[in-house]
Amino acid sequence: MCGIFGYIGKRNDAAKVVFEGLKRLEYRGYDSWGIVAKQETRNRKQETGDLIIEKHVGKISDSSLNSKLLTLSSRLAIGHTRWATHGGVTVANAHPHLDCSGKLALVHNGIVENYQKLRKSLGKKGHKFKSETDTEVVVHLVEEYAKRQSLKEAVRSAFQDITGLNAFVFISDKDQIFAVKSATPLVIGIGNGDNFISSDPNALLSYTKKAILLGDSQLAEISADNVRITSLVTRKKIKPKVLNIDWKAEEIELGRFKHFMLKEIYEQPQILRNIAQNYTQQINQLCKIIRQAHGIFLIGAGSAFHACLAGSYLFSKIAKEHVNTIVASEFNYLEDFLTKDSLIIALSQSGETIDIIEPLKRAKEKGSKIVAIVNNQGSTIWQMADYKMLLGAGPEIAVASTKAYIAKLAILLLIVNGLIGKLENSQSLLMEAAAEVERLLNEENSTIEKISRELAKHEHIFTLGRGLSFQSALEAALKMKEVSYIHTEGLAGGELKHGPIALISEGTPCVVFAPLDETYEAIISNAAEIKSRGGLIIGIGPIQESVFERWIKVKDLGVASIIANVIPAQLFGYYLALERKLDPDKPRNLAKSVTVK
Ligand code: F6R
Repeated sequence: MCGIFGYIGKRNDAAKVVFEGLKRLEYRGYDSWGIVAKQETRNRKQETGDLIIEKHVGKISDSSLNSKLLTLSSRLAIGHTRWATHGGVTVANAHPHLDCSGKLALVHNGIVENYQKLRKSLGKKGHKFKSETDTEVVVHLVEEYAKRQSLKEAVRSAFQDITGLNAFVFISDKDQIFAVKSATPLVIGIGNGDNFISSDPNALLSYTKKAILLGDSQLAEISADNVRITSLVTRKKIKPKVLNIDWKAEEIELGRFKHFMLKEIYEQPQILRNIAQNYTQQINQLCKIIRQAHGIFLIGAGSAFHACLAGSYLFSKIAKEHVNTIVASEFNYLEDFLTKDSLIIALSQSGETIDIIEPLKRAKEKGSKIVAIVNNQGSTIWQMADYKMLLGAGPEIAVASTKAYIAKLAILLLIVNGLIGKLENSQSLLMEAAAEVERLLNEENSTIEKISRELAKHEHIFTLGRGLSFQSALEAALKMKEVSYIHTEGLAGGELKHGPIALISEGTPCVVFAPLDETYEAIISNAAEIKSRGGLIIGIGPIQESVFERWIKVKDLGVASIIANVIPAQLFGYYLALERKLDPDKPRNLAKSVTVK
């Protein structure tokens, strides 16, 4: 969702650095953006300089930064990509926001829950507001405190008046950045004679790999050559831990691909091999933790929830264990039975999904243990966990999750086999799955593209699976609908006759997952029921049944078939988007990390 990027240092084109940083944050989703830079004065001894601000509605493009900011001599700037929550998508509502004096600027992620009350009381004190946002209230609140306090103290005082989960970054007309947060991430990038701040480590990769994660209720004062962190509560200095971001700058480039979604789909064989070969120790350690737990809960949102659902079938089928799988946003309402022996395993690509963070906070209060299986090192969920495991999928830029989803399935497969002492078998199975995924990408790609041209003409598609493939149907539907905007509905085969079959008419496409497991006969009967009502059946599986009008061959890999089976669905989504002239990387209304409820 919203993104923050800031720069302070030796370069004199700070606005341009921030502009480039914001482009790296585009993938998170936004509807407007803005930058504020402190103009350098000719006299280097003079500390203060004017703040020059520029805001836009719509997308960032090379030509959309005004020449004034691009050519401005500046060593300090902050910028923001906004995903509207409070107040419509307008230039006035875009960040940064200035105080009445125009000497203090703020960018913000999160929601200030008590902003209306604060706005009223600041209004009575003479503050004038130019936007409808909760953010603008905060910059005026700091201005109000700064009448009696230093700017640093004013930031501290204002922060204590605010409720909600937030991250704020301020600059004034002096050479310093102030940052505070109560939830959503802020990462400080340590450069050489310069420093950065970003809501996302990806955006720092072209400049530095050394990063400090700002903690909740901490205040950072950042200058060109120093970062000082203090506790907001005790005022004591905190010695920060400097992390090494282990992703490469090339990983956030398109390379030979036209879109990140396709690039990430093609990276999957390598990710599977990496997980098969390098996770033994971590899986064994995690299995020990799982064995000690009483009550295991798998939680995630969207695609991650589908992986959780696969997990519950795998736990039952292979480890003969019951785990509870719950959509993370619903876990909030189902927590009363948690105890200190409960174990919550949270699956998340971003590690920033608010729907997961909130229930995890409550679970922690009850003393339950938390395992995070996330892609982003240092993310909020990663920091909250008692035991952490990285997905190892590398940066995922396309909004629709592909490689992180596959990585989650692979890790779950290793866990359940680890629990019964058969880790090695599952590692070989993953290597086989990697080879099959590679074959699908090389040999079936053009068939899938051809079928997509046919599907693109329809407004409704159904996807169907049973058992382990129920979640494949859900994930396929999500992947197809979110990038193509075609209504695609995922169904459990057994549910067909309980209502949805009423929607099948002449030519309605239906993607049927038919792996060679205990669901095979029943799912083929479901396909026949749909076909006899005029539906067009696209079969995915190892056998070309006569009921299939179109067929994508996927080798039988036992339980690992769920890994290979999702590849055609990911490619369907991608090609459907292209066929409908849509950008598969940035679907409308969607954000890469969902940081507000
Ligand atoms: C779908 C998709 C979303 C995410 C969901 C959870 O393609 O990307 O459904 O899976 O928003 O996000 P994370 O995994 O970051 O918690």
